[in-house]
Amino acid sequence: MVHPVPKMAPGRHSTENSSRSIEARLEEAVGLAKAIRLDVVCAEFARITRPRPSSLLGNGTLETLGELISENDIGLVVIDAPLSPVQQRNLERRWQAKVIDRTGLILEIFGARARTHEGRLQVELAALSYQRSRLVRSWTHLERQRGGFGFLGGPGESQLEIDRRLIGERIARLKRELDATRRTRALHREARRRVPYPVVALVGYTNAGKSTLFNRLTRSSVIAGDMLFATLDPTMRRLELPSGRQAILSDTVGFISDLPTHLVAAFRATLEEVIEADIVVHVRDAHHPDSEAQRNDVLNVLIDLGLDEPTEDAVVEAMNKIDLLDPTARASLAGQQLSNSQGVALSAATGEGRDALLELIDRRLESEARVVRLEIPHTDGKTLAWVYDRGEVLGRRDDNEAAHLSVRLSEADIARLRHRQRLH
Ligand code: GTP
Repeated sequence: MVHPVPKMAPGRHSTENSSRSIEARLEEAVGLAKAIRLDVVCAEFARITRPRPSSLLGNGTLETLGELISENDIGLVVIDAPLSPVQQRNLERRWQAKVIDRTGLILEIFGARARTHEGRLQVELAALSYQRSRLVRSWTHLERQRGGFGFLGGPGESQLEIDRRLIGERIARLKRELDATRRTRALHREARRRVPYPVVALVGYTNAGKSTLFNRLTRSSVIAGDMLFATLDPTMRRLELPSGRQAILSDTVGFISDLPTHLVAAFRATLEEVIEADIVVHVRDAHHPDSEAQRNDVLNVLIDLGLDEPTEDAVVEAMNKIDLLDPTARASLAGQQLSNSQGVALSAATGEGRDALLELIDRRLESEARVVRLEIPHTDGKTLAWVYDRGEVLGRRDDNEAAHLSVRLSEADIARLRHRQRLH
């Protein structure tokens, strides 16, 4: 893992991003690599006085890193910056190791995490566009070289043209498929509402501690052989709340600072399910120097995705890693949280604050509830059982045809019930 400093392309970074500390950036890059289970052997800064078109890094750095790579038998080097195809190839030759850049790494992560059909299509589209741009660039590079020598054509060139055409065709097909998927998206939403529990989604910056919290919250409630949860993918698990209420906790792909613009659509597609969640838990790294900037990034994306008023009831803030804060910072955080009751200070690592978060989620789900009157035919025993399971039945009167109930149900369950009844 190599993070080049200073900035690679002056002017292309926003002021907000340049405020992110270099250490934090390297740490984030390491976190990204770990997210796809890469075993990070070492992480280094590489100082760049003048970016080399052929290899990005200067000779001295190439040498030092080369030694490190061969000594440790490293198979993959991630450069946390954009690399041109030529630079990538030259580095691979020189180091005898596979080299990928930041975009390549992020695409791997999105590919591993995209869950919806649309998400997968978006990621594939981004990956192919990335691949094609690299083919085009290396092709023009070759062409220029050939032009200089006065040659025309050649086998290498035609192969690249074929690759380019094939990728182009696949891209066109993916775009058509994406259009079709978008048209049926409303239908999918309806289907997902049938998930029989409220959904709580974890969002946040990569490295904020989402996965650690996910495990901490659900460890005790994974039940072997539970079919519903066994068939859900591993980023979804049963969450048992203090009141006995059940929910599904869903982990999402982490936000990444300085996301390359052509990956934004793919990233959003992987997050799409968040707008379906009943509650969003925003996991923040309270110890991170850019915690506030990160918070705004996350909220802006949630608004763009269509989550109403994300600062209000729908979002719970989990200020994580408080074990790393000094007593003053902890006290001031606790004060802030008490005053707005929007969040909880906790440590996913030690477990401190876990119960408070569960209680807050429970209360939110509870306060969403309202009392409705229902008429359920006796022939529909299944729905009746569902209502008893999910809601609090406050009153019941039976006549020949139906049970007339007065029930406290959450908004999400009311929507699910409406859907259910339409099906009958
Ligand atoms: P991505 O999977 O990349 O999106 O990251 P994530 O948000 O899931 O973060 P993850 O749970 O992998 O945690 C990132 C790092 O922070 C790990 O090294 C954790 O051990 C550490 N970490 C998580 N929570 C805490 C905490 O409460 N305290 C401390 N000290 N470290 C924590």
